[in-house]
Amino acid sequence: MIRRRGTERTGDAGARAATSAASPAGPATRRPLLPSYPPRDYLGQLDPAFQAALSERRAGADLSDLVWYHATELPDGRVLPGAWDLRGHEPAYLGGVDVAGKRVLELGPATGYLTFYMERMGAEVVSFEAGFDVPIDLLPVRGVDHPEEKLRVMQETIDRNHDAWWYLHRQFESRAAFVQGNIYDLPADLGTFDVTVVGAILLHLREPWGALAQAAARTTGTMIVTEPLQDDEQPPESNIMRFSPSAEHHMTNWWSIYPGAVVSMLSRLGFGRTETTMHSQRHHLAHDMAADAVAQQMYTVVGRRSVRGPGT
Ligand SMILES: C[S@@+](CC[C@H](N)C(=O)[O-])C[C@H]1O[C@@H](n2cnc3c(N)ncnc32)[C@H](O)[C@@H]1O
Repeated sequence: MIRRRGTERTGDAGARAATSAASPAGPATRRPLLPSYPPRDYLGQLDPAFQAALSERRAGADLSDLVWYHATELPDGRVLPGAWDLRGHEPAYLGGVDVAGKRVLELGPATGYLTFYMERMGAEVVSFEAGFDVPIDLLPVRGVDHPEEKLRVMQETIDRNHDAWWYLHRQFESRAAFVQGNIYDLPADLGTFDVTVVGAILLHLREPWGALAQAAARTTGTMIVTEPLQDDEQPPESNIMRFSPSAEHHMTNWWSIYPGAVVSMLSRLGFGRTETTMHSQRHHLAHDMAADAVAQQMYTVVGRRSVRGPGT
């Protein structure tokens, strides 16, 4: 059932609306995105009928049109290249947390490599992404906001990542769910999760605290936060978050966050039993696949709930 807060629609109507979004808006756009379906505050995205309609809508995407964030080995052994290759290093990326039998929320899965990995490890996963009428956060340039750039990034990169997520969903015959909306105001009907994964996304958010607080409020057990280690002048335990637009990603990279700042935020949010580990992951800088991959220094903070939260 697809419901706007305070209004009711039938599942059929919701499914029709989801499917109708597949029709192209015109030659200049791949697919209507801003605004699109479902509008802000809609509930019911976990409904199987909604997920089936979304899957159907995404099924037409051409393989050559997808954008791969993660390198992925398909069930038939083919390997699709991607800017990040986490293969073989997934346990480190997830801080060694055993997700078997857990209900997991993954914020910002991109192509979804970790979604499907965790599912293979026995988790039930809900992936949450920007989309519909909620774009990712882009920095202004010389004080000027660029809505047309947001639309371009959403259409040319993010939405194609989402098509890739759904491509892998079909390839792995996955049961994972895909939910979109406002990361600072997560849909009210997602329920609670044993584990939440916040992988390489805080650096891209205008308000990392706001997103972490939303996720923490839905998490009964464990928060996993992984970030690139961008600065090493100070000890890792430093409680520092530096405003840090980078040359290559000058509109999408907001922060360089030391592990100590994540520990501090998680503790304040009730996840006071923390453990921080360092690892490196293979990455093509600036997503340039023609360049050799480098070993990107990363860290993962695992926070276990020490204080009961609302609804937990
Ligand atoms: C750098 S990728 C990380 C992919 C994956 N989590 C990982 O660790 O490999 C960041 C992802 O977060 C998503 N994202 C960025 N800003 C977002 C926002 N404001 N709301 C929801 N998702 C967002 C992007 O669409 C992208 O898929």
